[in-house]
Amino acid sequence: TITKVHAREILDSRGNPTVEVELTTADGTFRADVPSGASTGENEAMEIRDGGSRYLGKGVATAVDNVISTIGPAIMGMDAQDVAALDKVMLDLDGTPNKGKLGANAILGVSMAACRAGAAHRKEPLYVFLNRLAGSPTMVMPVPCFNCINGGVHAGNYLPFQEFFLIPLGASSFKEAMQLGSETYHTLKGLLKKKYGLDSTAVGDEGGFAPRIDSPEEALKLLVEAIDAAGYTGKIMIGSDPASSETYDKASGKYNLDFKKPEGEQTPASIKSGDELVSYWVEMASKYPIVLLEDPADENDFESHAKLTARLGGAVEIVGDDLYCTNPAIVERGISCKATNAMLLKVNQIGTISEAIAAYKLCVDQEWGVFVSHRSGETEDSFIADLTVALGTGHLKTGAPCRSERLCKYNQLLRIEEDLGSNAIFAGKDFRKSGRF
Ligand code: PGA
Ligand code: ZN
Repeated sequence: TITKVHAREILDSRGNPTVEVELTTADGTFRADVPSGASTGENEAMEIRDGGSRYLGKGVATAVDNVISTIGPAIMGMDAQDVAALDKVMLDLDGTPNKGKLGANAILGVSMAACRAGAAHRKEPLYVFLNRLAGSPTMVMPVPCFNCINGGVHAGNYLPFQEFFLIPLGASSFKEAMQLGSETYHTLKGLLKKKYGLDSTAVGDEGGFAPRIDSPEEALKLLVEAIDAAGYTGKIMIGSDPASSETYDKASGKYNLDFKKPEGEQTPASIKSGDELVSYWVEMASKYPIVLLEDPADENDFESHAKLTARLGGAVEIVGDDLYCTNPAIVERGISCKATNAMLLKVNQIGTISEAIAAYKLCVDQEWGVFVSHRSGETEDSFIADLTVALGTGHLKTGAPCRSERLCKYNQLLRIEEDLGSNAIFAGKDFRKSGRF
């Protein structure tokens, strides 16, 4: 049973405040850190920031106090293993549709820490505990999707699209996938240096390179070149998260691929309608070995998503991130209009582990993929590594194989694979079979 609830303000990988929670039970003290996004969806659960001048308004003292003064007394004495009951108490206490009263950053920290306390009480690893919590799907080692070129709002270049992935689905184990990813990442670094000079190897928020290029197609070409040069043609495929809500201009209803440039440098050719954007992706998928696209259109543009899924959905996993915000009710809408064939799972978009699992189950029932994700603002907490194996989602993205707030998740997966030993199943080419291994 929970005997103490504590929280504090710590800093994330961008140097912004975030919430850390500590739950104490007879088994010890269990900690969890909450991540934070930059290209956030409109329908995400609310992250409470203090405002004012302290930390430029980004302080989380209010959320920390909500954990200590409001959530703490309400869950004192409860069984930490019963995560569903704890989440329910917090949801009732909050009482808003978007967790706006207590803050998703307060609630999620408690929900995650409770999973750790529950696992410790059962004397089992976190991934085993989470697996049972989710109804015991087959545990699977995921294909790591390495975001090796950063753009969008995650980097200081003019590249409009946010993420470009190396996807080593031809590896035979997670460990080998890490090796392939790391070697290709370093090969890419050499290529960038040769083509664009030393400053092009500086990295963005997720550890991928942020070269001074503005064309998404050039980024795709660079990945293919690096894969070939590293000797992994056919073993490493590619994907992208353009985070299209960032390029979408609400006033004109069009996508502006020059949105990061000063107005004088923007060109009319970079303005695209939804249909033109769909055609653009169809063309890219015919020219490059693309197997995954996330948020290829704006978060309210279910129509363009559905058009693209109808055209590419066989060969390419089309993932909804900002489109769904890991929210079961919005996923239902996507299912009814066949908007995508997969959902991104970010625990802080919805704010409790119970609801994240509910969204996951909806997708598994539809034979959709589930793609577990970090946030651009991360911490050294590796919770999502355990969660990915537990749910058997088959793939996750947690940045480039660079920077420790990204690597701590990948490194935890290396430990889990070793722990599973000969029982470890690596998703490989079946990475879309989330929850159905
Ligand atoms: P975010 O980016 O964490 O800044 O929202 C990640 C993503 O869009 O997938
Ligand atoms: Zn995204």
